[in-house]
Amino acid sequence: MAHFRSLLLLALFTFSGVAVEATGPGDNGFVGLRDNYYRNSCKDAEKLIKKAVQAELAKNLKHAAGVLRMHFHDCFVEGCDGSVLLDGPGTEKTSHLAGFEVIDAAKAAVEAVCPGVVSCADILAYAARDSTVELNGTGWAVQGGRKDCTVSLASRAEAELPPPMFEVSQLIDSFARRGLSARQMVVLSGAQTVGVGFCDKFVSRLYDFNSTFFTDPSIDPAYATELKNICPQHSFNTSIEVFMDVITPTSAGVFEANYYKTLQEHKGLLTSDQSLFDDSRTRAVVTSLLNNRRFQKEFGKAMRAMGAVGVKTVGQIRTKCSAVNE
Ligand code: HEM
Ligand SMILES: *[C@@H]1O[C@H](CO)[C@@H](O)[C@H](O)[C@H]1NC(C)=O
Ligand SMILES: *[C@@H]1O[C@H](CO)[C@@H](O)[C@H](O)[C@H]1NC(C)=O
Ligand SMILES: *[C@@H]1O[C@H](CO)[C@@H](O)[C@H](O)[C@H]1NC(C)=O
Repeated sequence: MAHFRSLLLLALFTFSGVAVEATGPGDNGFVGLRDNYYRNSCKDAEKLIKKAVQAELAKNLKHAAGVLRMHFHDCFVEGCDGSVLLDGPGTEKTSHLAGFEVIDAAKAAVEAVCPGVVSCADILAYAARDSTVELNGTGWAVQGGRKDCTVSLASRAEAELPPPMFEVSQLIDSFARRGLSARQMVVLSGAQTVGVGFCDKFVSRLYDFNSTFFTDPSIDPAYATELKNICPQHSFNTSIEVFMDVITPTSAGVFEANYYKTLQEHKGLLTSDQSLFDDSRTRAVVTSLLNNRRFQKEFGKAMRAMGAVGVKTVGQIRTKCSAVNE
């Protein structure tokens, strides 16, 4: 227990250094991270990870969105250090995430060839990119060099992840604390062009919104009706999946700029989505990202910046991504 407590303290201290360690919106020069990081130590690592991700997604393509989201959660809680992958009571894993088997398969593939070399935090970063490519995104070069942590706490995830009812000021703030700009926040939110959400995340927009409006007036009325049919006021089914992007409603999603079009049409699913268009500070960014080529390019750059948040250059390389080494 005493040991655990000291690890916890260490984690808290590390977190306070996050914003300083990330060098911000620049592209290269993140402390400790490099392109082709495993070129000498495990030269086929990226290829092996990609093959494993493809094989897993061929079984369930919905996990592509799950893996992408998991990388975001990893980076926003204590930095990109594989904390999100740890198993156990009260870890971040207890929050609603999917696709862990994709990471386990990729880890097994690299361990078979170069044991103890490739960190789980890096595997997650590569797999997030590979997942968007499977959904027809254009991809980006992923830097490697992250070490894995030894602590994961659901309470930290709850405290650090931006909730779906956040509006632009709060979102800007949350990203700024990780050295990410308002523009990068809008670009990264475009990840939510793929995958699904659940009624409890947006039902407060549909019913008893505030004393003036029963339903959030920022939702397109026909779309609001559609959402109300899926999520009845007091009896919604917490397992029903609602597409994040109603313009390309396929079960796994397609990785393109249509997310921004949904915002323009007032069909953003979450407050944190729709407010990006409704707020004058970010509306022009939303409009500029309607251009899919621009979105793909900026998304890759922003993911490199997000992938550098709070990176640890000391730590372990886990043997199994779901458990710390003995
Ligand atoms: C800007 C602040 C953000 C908020 C408030 C937010 C919130 C959410 C919420 C509430 C869901 C639905 C999950 C559920 O109902 O269980 C979701 C889904 C998702 N988010 Fe975010 N998110 C944010 C940013 C991001 C970023 C930066 C990424 C990735 C770079 C991302 C990727 C995803 C993906 C891919 C899904 C679909 C997951 C799946 O289908 O399994 N989100 N997000
Ligand atoms: C990706 O593009 C290819 C070729 O254009 C298409 O056949 C495939 O269905 C697309 N995949 C998705 C997930 O939309
Ligand atoms: C209700 O929400 C609307 C739209 O967001 C807002 O303009 C209005 O000030 C809110 N009213 C109250 C009483 O909070
Ligand atoms: C809730 O939705 C899930 C997924 O669609 C379904 O399997 C389940 O039977 C539903 N439960 C109820 C009580 O309707």
